[in-house]
Amino acid sequence: MSIYGWFTSKGTSGFGYNSTAEEVTEGLSLDGKTMLVTGCNSGLGHEAMRVLALRGARVVGTARTLEKTKAACDGIRGKTIPLACELSDPASVRACAEEVKRQRIKLDAIIANAGIMALPELEKAHGYELQFFTNHVGHFLLVTSLLDQLTETGRVVMLSSDAHRRAPEAGIELDNLDGAKGYGEWRNYGQSKLANLLFAKELSRRFAGTKKTANAVHPGVIRTNLTRHMNPVARFLFLAISPLFLKTVPQGAATEVFVATSPTLADVSGEYFADCNVAVPRRDANDVELAKKLWDVTEKIVAELA
Ligand SMILES: NC(=O)c1ccc[n+]([C@@H]2O[C@H](COP(=O)([O-])OP(=O)(O)OC[C@H]3O[C@@H](n4cnc5c(N)ncnc54)[C@H](OP(=O)(O)O)[C@@H]3O)[C@@H](O)[C@H]2O)c1
Repeated sequence: MSIYGWFTSKGTSGFGYNSTAEEVTEGLSLDGKTMLVTGCNSGLGHEAMRVLALRGARVVGTARTLEKTKAACDGIRGKTIPLACELSDPASVRACAEEVKRQRIKLDAIIANAGIMALPELEKAHGYELQFFTNHVGHFLLVTSLLDQLTETGRVVMLSSDAHRRAPEAGIELDNLDGAKGYGEWRNYGQSKLANLLFAKELSRRFAGTKKTANAVHPGVIRTNLTRHMNPVARFLFLAISPLFLKTVPQGAATEVFVATSPTLADVSGEYFADCNVAVPRRDANDVELAKKLWDVTEKIVAELA
């Protein structure tokens, strides 16, 4: 536990900052359930997959390549199905969704966990800024392609971040999705994470009248491979403060696993969670019009990539 963790308390869910993925699923049987986790080969995704499988779920684990996902799944005790899904490559995302359909896999949850953070220079995929494309567009394509595979009570969990607060003041810069009018490593990471939140919001609205849910989570701040693009000094500082302020990986995976599995959340949708409790995001993360607009724009982007 970090020193910061000593001073935190549990929230109304009975869990909090220090809770681990194992603790939030203690006593829960996930036998007969199937859950898909993107980015299963590293950090929070790997821990989420491990704990879901430990509780009896069959986990469809995805990573950029089949080799990576097979290697990750090989180390897991329990039932796993390794599939390749490179989020910045629509052909790979579509092939992944097609394979889930071909195998007639019904999903009790999709945890859209994979992500990249703070690329120092502007990079692009298919003409769009890479963090937006990977974190948002790739997951939009995957999740919307798999909606028919969700069970009646299926849940979609989007990994956002408290860094969504660093998104541009305008929210999503729809006229600058290629980064040509300006790019900032944190600003654009923040924008992609605000997009994850808005996607969950709009999906939740579209699920109205069903028992399906869509929520977004902030996992906490955890030292994982996510820092790989940060400059060496910032990475060193991050490493130095980790025993003081950061969550461990088992604590970091807790919120996504909790939101994907807790029976207490069967009717909770369109929310933002942090430390396994409902939290308040930046105001425009609740902007229904912006969420609809982003959905329409993204739908057009993926249609043009066909
Ligand atoms: N760690 C934190 O402090 C923190 C804080 C807030 C939010 N988050 C969010 O939590 C999620 C998990 O992050 P983490 O900390 O576990 O980081 P991580 O250890 O770096 O894991 C990220 C995962 O995403 C995968 N990924 C990256 N780009 C991809 C692509 N184009 N296609 C498919 N998979 C891709 C990575 O695959 P490779 O290994 O092959 O690159 C890896 O499996 C992310 O969405 C992140 O934004 C993390």
